[in-house]
Amino acid sequence: MTTHHASATPDLPLDMIIFGGTGDLSFRKLLPALYMAHLHCNLPPDTRILTIGRKPWSREEYINEFMEAKAKPFIEKKAFDAAAWDKFLALFEYVRMDVDSIEDYQRLKEVSREGVRRVFYLATSPDLFMNICDNLSAAGLVDENSRVVLEKPLGHDLASAQEINTAVGRHFGEAQIYRIDHYLGKETVQNLMVLRFGNAIFGPLWQAPYIKRVQITVAEEVGVGSRAGFYDKTGALRDMVQNHLLQLLCIVAMEPPVSLDPDAVRDEKLKVLRSLRPMTPEDIARDTVRGQYTAGAVNGEPVKGYLEEDNVPPGSRAETFVALRAHINNWRWANVPFYLRTGKRMQKKVSEIVIEFSELPFSIIPSGGRNYGNRLVIQLQPEESIQLQMLAKEPGSGMHMLPVNLNLDLQQAFTERRAEAYERLLIDVIRGRLTHFMRRDELEAAWAWAEPILEGWAKSGDKPRGYTAGTFGPAASTALMARENAVWAEESQ
Ligand code: BG6
Repeated sequence: MTTHHASATPDLPLDMIIFGGTGDLSFRKLLPALYMAHLHCNLPPDTRILTIGRKPWSREEYINEFMEAKAKPFIEKKAFDAAAWDKFLALFEYVRMDVDSIEDYQRLKEVSREGVRRVFYLATSPDLFMNICDNLSAAGLVDENSRVVLEKPLGHDLASAQEINTAVGRHFGEAQIYRIDHYLGKETVQNLMVLRFGNAIFGPLWQAPYIKRVQITVAEEVGVGSRAGFYDKTGALRDMVQNHLLQLLCIVAMEPPVSLDPDAVRDEKLKVLRSLRPMTPEDIARDTVRGQYTAGAVNGEPVKGYLEEDNVPPGSRAETFVALRAHINNWRWANVPFYLRTGKRMQKKVSEIVIEFSELPFSIIPSGGRNYGNRLVIQLQPEESIQLQMLAKEPGSGMHMLPVNLNLDLQQAFTERRAEAYERLLIDVIRGRLTHFMRRDELEAAWAWAEPILEGWAKSGDKPRGYTAGTFGPAASTALMARENAVWAEESQ
């Protein structure tokens, strides 16, 4: 399932056409990822990259003002090779377009070659997806060799997601649509599937009552930065939970798929999403916590509160933190709570999944009054690591036990370069591999579960709770866990 053991060589010459080609995502992620793919010879030999923007730039201006000035600094220093960079730049064309102007699509048609594989990467606001697809199709740019990549967030709620999916579906078959969630491109996330389905020892224990709780945390140190225009309308539930965190939950919770074929994997993830227990207004009040950061310090540096950030409307109620308790209504997971948590301006950047196994029914070995259980900790960021907390004898004459980590040191075991999530997923798109992309029904099931939470919050009239930047969120998040005598992972260390 990994992409670096790439199988078939790509079949057709490629025109990669990036809408939103001068935006944040392009210079931070997409273009550096394409450069890496180029450097490692993973682009088809006859590739061109057409980036689309509104700015009245010539090709040279685009290369200088954008590629050199903005995208290049995001390439890892040690991967930079001046000769490869020059060859990479030679693949580019800049196409100035107003995405609503039909005539401009004719110009795009003149620039794009016939008989190639066109990949349209829509890195724009989702409000534009429908028009772009309609216009591409009207201009005769879409054929059976075309693929479209849709960036998240796909819609604002279930109805808007359905509307976009239907509109895009008029021009592209489901197998031509790549709904990207870059968390599915992360090495450790893909590794979790191998861990679960490649190791016999976990199979029998991977369920209630042997697992008693699952925690999924995606904590960021960064604040909203320059993205308030987008973020304030979005908030953490739409930005992170509806997609990234639910996708992680699916990989932890899904049944073994019959194979790694895209539909086999996506069928199982869909079943998980459909089994999520819908939240009633009472559940929302009891089992969800919303927060918004106030001024504080991260890594010793003073930082502003969310309301003081540029372009945040006064009195904004956008949540920059969410913690919640979810349940999956099926046999495997009955009564096993899944705690999900994400936030900006947290104490440290850490993304991890913690599987807490049940404690011994009865212990004959003293553990200093503490009730330790085994834990499997899968860390995605900042380091990729997998650790299994075991209990071992404390050295000495007595028989006491203490937790010790069994450490699967992947960095040492595999010295190959690990591709970044976007690079890996872009190569998947080019090679036509859909396994790590979301299918329409999956995405809509995720919205169907998340939307009542947003509605419940809006109806409640409550504001998000303030939390000081540089902490792990509001006290209510700790209290959510404390109700069942549990603590978030960082508090148990
Ligand atoms: C994006 C969100 O999808 O994921 C951002 O829009 C967030 O708000 C980012 O910062 C986090 O991704 P990563 O890979 O840095 O954990």
